[in-house]
Amino acid sequence: GKSGYDHYMKKEIHEQPRAIRNCLRNRIAEFEDRIVLEELADLERPTRIHLVACGTSYHAALYGAQLLREHGIPTQTFLASEYRAESVAVDAETLVIGVTQSGETADTMRALREASGADATTLAVTNTVGSSAARECDHVCYVRAGPEIGVAATKTFASQQVALAMVANALVDDPDPTLVDALRELPDQIQRVLDESQAHALADAYIDAGAYFFVGREYTAPVALEGALKMKEITYKHAEGFAAGELKHGPLALVEGALKMKEITYKHAEGFAAGELKHGPLALVTANTPVFALLTEGSRLEKTLGNVKEIQARDAPVIAVTDVPETVERYVDHVLEVPSSHPKLTPILANIQLQLASYWVANQLNRSIDKPRNLAKSVTVE
Ligand code: M6R
Repeated sequence: GKSGYDHYMKKEIHEQPRAIRNCLRNRIAEFEDRIVLEELADLERPTRIHLVACGTSYHAALYGAQLLREHGIPTQTFLASEYRAESVAVDAETLVIGVTQSGETADTMRALREASGADATTLAVTNTVGSSAARECDHVCYVRAGPEIGVAATKTFASQQVALAMVANALVDDPDPTLVDALRELPDQIQRVLDESQAHALADAYIDAGAYFFVGREYTAPVALEGALKMKEITYKHAEGFAAGELKHGPLALVEGALKMKEITYKHAEGFAAGELKHGPLALVTANTPVFALLTEGSRLEKTLGNVKEIQARDAPVIAVTDVPETVERYVDHVLEVPSSHPKLTPILANIQLQLASYWVANQLNRSIDKPRNLAKSVTVE
């Protein structure tokens, strides 16, 4: 049952400290700065990596890909529905990682099967023991989030991020020892965010907004996309996430172009290839569109502050999600604070604030939070 929570989503948001503890259990050597993933023991360092996933899992994959790339392994992320083995370089030297909570998503399974057919090694990063992905892939790394009933993925996203951070560290010859300590602290830090979050009051203040925007950069860019997906999914409001650097590529100066663009993007709030973003998000920013800016240390926050100024020039309220409130508070309207962690892990904490913000907006609007219209927990048709 919901253990006293109004919704499964809220319960699952609050289960994140435990989910992450489970994900880490027996995978961090107790007195060492080393991650041990037995399930990858006989996996060779691949020449290249492809990640395939849908929805929230795709955002986790984008995050994981950044970490893998930093260790020098050429890594690409694909929407599973767009992955065609015959049109990408995939062979026996390639590791294809399917990120899928359910382990049953049709597009992800098809992509993994095509990759297997092209002799790639496959790895499932999944929450579901005995799922198709777990049975069919060569290797499995369970994220161990526990059952997730709410259609909106929350704790499974955090667990996927942590699992992928561990996979990245385990696959490479030069693991980052500082990450290990930071991982150990993460569950308690998540608890602090949950205990101290001001997201409820903030959501109440912006309940009538016409749209919500989320901007992030580097490690937090996937979190911006995820924040927007969550907001759309459970509030049915227009929300969009951007890599902060793309904001200024809007055709603001061309008034006519801006008008057109508004029209188009309002209609198609979802489903753009990322490259389409540069067609003008800034044109949508007004006093009625609060912007959540992910301003965390280690993700070029000075640059994103530049974008914040552009946003404020259009009168939009800016809500910073940050681990350095004293650095950013004078530039923004509100602050949602998260504890400082390793720069690669702070985005996991920041995302929790965004989950809570979406939850409280949806709750206030009386939406069907655990079962949003038109959506299913597991999408088993292409
Ligand atoms: O089971 P999967 O992780 O493969 O599911 C992929 C998406 O359908 C899923 O992440 C979806 O986007 C979320 N439920 C959104 O909250």
